[in-house]
Amino acid sequence: MILIAPSLLAADFTILASEIKDVHLAGADWLHYDVMDGHFVPNISMGIPVLESIRHATDMFLDVHLMITQPVRYCRQFCKAGADLVNVHIESDTEDQIKAALQAVKDEGKLCGVTVKPATGWEAVIPFLELTDLILVMTVEPGFGGQHFMAEQMDKVRTLRKLIDKRGRDIRLEVDGGVDGRTAPVCIEAGADVLVAGSAIFHAQDRAAAIQLIKGIS
Ligand code: DX5
Ligand code: ZN
Repeated sequence: MILIAPSLLAADFTILASEIKDVHLAGADWLHYDVMDGHFVPNISMGIPVLESIRHATDMFLDVHLMITQPVRYCRQFCKAGADLVNVHIESDTEDQIKAALQAVKDEGKLCGVTVKPATGWEAVIPFLELTDLILVMTVEPGFGGQHFMAEQMDKVRTLRKLIDKRGRDIRLEVDGGVDGRTAPVCIEAGADVLVAGSAIFHAQDRAAAIQLIKGIS
């Protein structure tokens, strides 16, 4: 089953609760929450208190994407604030520390994910395959919404899909960046089963139609 996760980065922050309710009613499956520290990526977004408020405003599944250096420092706090899944970037710390971050999320009873930037090869996820519940392939350089989809990342998605199927473990394969009605079928064909979309959903006139289009229903 294909899941759609609108990225809140493209929402109107002055009316966040109603934006969330709106995409929920429009058929979104998860909510994607981007955390940037101005160090791992050249931008700063939102953090723990906003996530806490969102947790009180919705029962939707909260997919947290940490674009921060040394995420092990904050994983537990994001779980306690209400994350259902926490994604950490493989490039953001040493292998041991990334494993510790994933384990911290698991210890909190939540799901964990590993994320790869466009320049990171698929092989980089191998050490984490026993621990992770999800692999997130970036289809833009992390840091900003509204960028162009990098179709060349689809080879990585295809290879990871084969790897996951061969392993037989239940691991979700997510893509993030530049996903819209035109690029979503390419992602689905390559084997992605969670699609993040910010601008394509929040900036659409008809959000329900945008979600249906990305899901490949209409
Ligand atoms: C980029 C973020 C994405 C972004 C997606 O660093 O991780 O989640 O919000 O936005 P769109 O769908 O507009 O590319
Ligand atoms: Zn993201």
